[in-house]
Amino acid sequence: MKRNQWEDHYTRQARKERWLARSVYKLQEIDQKFRIFARGNHVLDLGCYPGSWSQYALLKIKPGGLVTGIDLKVPDHLSDPRFRFLKADILLLDPESLEDAGCPLKVVMSDLAPRTTGIKEVDAARSMDLVRKASEIASSVLCPGGRFICKVFEGEDFRGFRDEVALRYKEVRIFRTGATRKKSREIYLIAKGFHP
Ligand SMILES: C[S@@+](CC[C@H](N)C(=O)[O-])C[C@H]1O[C@@H](n2cnc3c(N)ncnc32)[C@H](O)[C@@H]1O
Repeated sequence: MKRNQWEDHYTRQARKERWLARSVYKLQEIDQKFRIFARGNHVLDLGCYPGSWSQYALLKIKPGGLVTGIDLKVPDHLSDPRFRFLKADILLLDPESLEDAGCPLKVVMSDLAPRTTGIKEVDAARSMDLVRKASEIASSVLCPGGRFICKVFEGEDFRGFRDEVALRYKEVRIFRTGATRKKSREIYLIAKGFHP
């Protein structure tokens, strides 16, 4: 991991523990609280670059599991025979093209974040487009009982989105991780028990 102006305790810890990004600690917290991964799971990681969420998932699913990552950027520091990568724009992706992403898919996770403009309304709208697409993909590829995690920025559309997701899962929880920066409006939605 490169040094940057946002460096903090989590950044330093991630470097020391050889994670590819500090965001790994957000997923770790989510997993410890909601028990997302199990041995042998097949996982889809949307917006996977630089790769710390995929790294963490690979560790938890043990041999027999598989992670497919998708991003606009290639996670060139992540190499594992159980990791496959697809370079693509999520917004243009046909979910049916993911049929060979490992079956049955138990977990779809999205840490997708748009390139920000600084204009609040534009950034919120772009983020919501990504989140909705991630949810659409999850609904097309998850097997019954599957789990869906996604990063959302709190805004006007958030409640509507949560209600939509709740129609398709047995349980939906909202969680703000300790590793999230204090000024950020980022929260995570954790949905379990997918029913197609
Ligand atoms: C916060 S980073 C993900 C960090 C990752 N979870 C990790 O732990 O290493 C968000 C990612 O979303 C990707 N992204 C944003 N828009 C995208 C799109 N339309 N299609 C694919 N990836 C996209 C960005 O390229 C970026 O790598």
